[in-house]
Amino acid sequence: MGRAKKVVLAYSGGVDTSVCIPYLKEEWGVEEVITLAADLGQGDELEPIRAKALDSGASVSLVADAKAAFINDYAFPSIQANALYENRYPLSTALARPLIAKLLVDAAAEYGADAVAHGCTGKGNDQVRFDVAIAALNPDLKVLAPAREWGMSREQTIAYGEKFGIPSPVKKSSPYSIDRNLLGRSIEAGPLEDPWTEPLEEIYLMTKPIADTPNSPEYVEIGFEQGIPITLDGQTLGSVDLVDRLNQRVGNHGIGRIDMVENRLVGIKSREIYEAPALLVLIYAHRDLESLTLTGDVSQYKRGIEETYSKLVYNGLWYSPLKQALDAFVQQTQARVTGTVRVKLFKGSATIVGRKSANSLYTPDLATYGAEDQFDHKAAEGFIYVWGLPTRVWSQQVKSST
Ligand code: ARG
Repeated sequence: MGRAKKVVLAYSGGVDTSVCIPYLKEEWGVEEVITLAADLGQGDELEPIRAKALDSGASVSLVADAKAAFINDYAFPSIQANALYENRYPLSTALARPLIAKLLVDAAAEYGADAVAHGCTGKGNDQVRFDVAIAALNPDLKVLAPAREWGMSREQTIAYGEKFGIPSPVKKSSPYSIDRNLLGRSIEAGPLEDPWTEPLEEIYLMTKPIADTPNSPEYVEIGFEQGIPITLDGQTLGSVDLVDRLNQRVGNHGIGRIDMVENRLVGIKSREIYEAPALLVLIYAHRDLESLTLTGDVSQYKRGIEETYSKLVYNGLWYSPLKQALDAFVQQTQARVTGTVRVKLFKGSATIVGRKSANSLYTPDLATYGAEDQFDHKAAEGFIYVWGLPTRVWSQQVKSST
């Protein structure tokens, strides 16, 4: 008796997910493996991947262009939430998982599969994100994770694949583990496992080394409508195009690198390097526009929501009820977050140098120190008397009793 009859497998074209195909059939008695490769802008050519799945024993090889859904339905809501895990990581890898899970669940329904599968190992966050997202979308579907159980080393995996005609990697495999999509790259392992070791320049692809960046600053104006980025320098662009172009421009100035030790959900600390040029600048710009268009109390309260939101996304709870409730809060706050932010790109830093909005709450007549000042200075005195009253009473009581 096999673990499942018909399985939809998340497929990348790499050795591990390719080996999953014969492994599911030979070791776990699966009758039919359907693969699904999602294009999230990782830059791989899809046609060879489609063919490789069939060569490796898949009965159907699906390829989905999911770039627009990725940006519109996952990245943009996260930008509206200014989501930065542990205050730094913009979740470029994490955001892709609930989308892939959804594609798997939809394909399983379409093809009548009784299980879905992924190639994650048992140490990372991604297995959690897949398993929990799939459970949320269809709690009756089985999830198979062969690489979590097979216990094969890299060499053994390659040797196993060769028995079934899966070619071993042509290049000497890199010491790094890299995840890439339109939003960014995540790089770990190899020499990076020592948190004291500076990353070699060779690991970066989306961001230039400072030595090679332009010697004069460049400005970019990002236009938002209700918290969604819509224009670059006044030009309306489709979401995928906007992120793509901003990646180029920002990365060209060496902006968007993060080197951090983060806390994984499974309790392990890991050292990860990220580059996410456009995503980071979009979050900084969006956050700045909120400072102009939201009241102080909403902004301040939202910060707590953002921290919880980031943790939920990192920890695989994209489709959870708490995440949905926070989404409703975030959406409610975005109605008037419309305007333009001006960002200066230069030598590794993105600096916000201007912001404007038709919904601006910034009131020059109140803020100015000049003659136009409309603020009622006398009113401040009574306000301070009432505001400080509890502290004054407390202080008098302490003084009289000591
Ligand atoms: N640490 C990041 C996350 O949990 C990225 C994980 C994948 N990283 C990798 N280098 N393969 O979202």
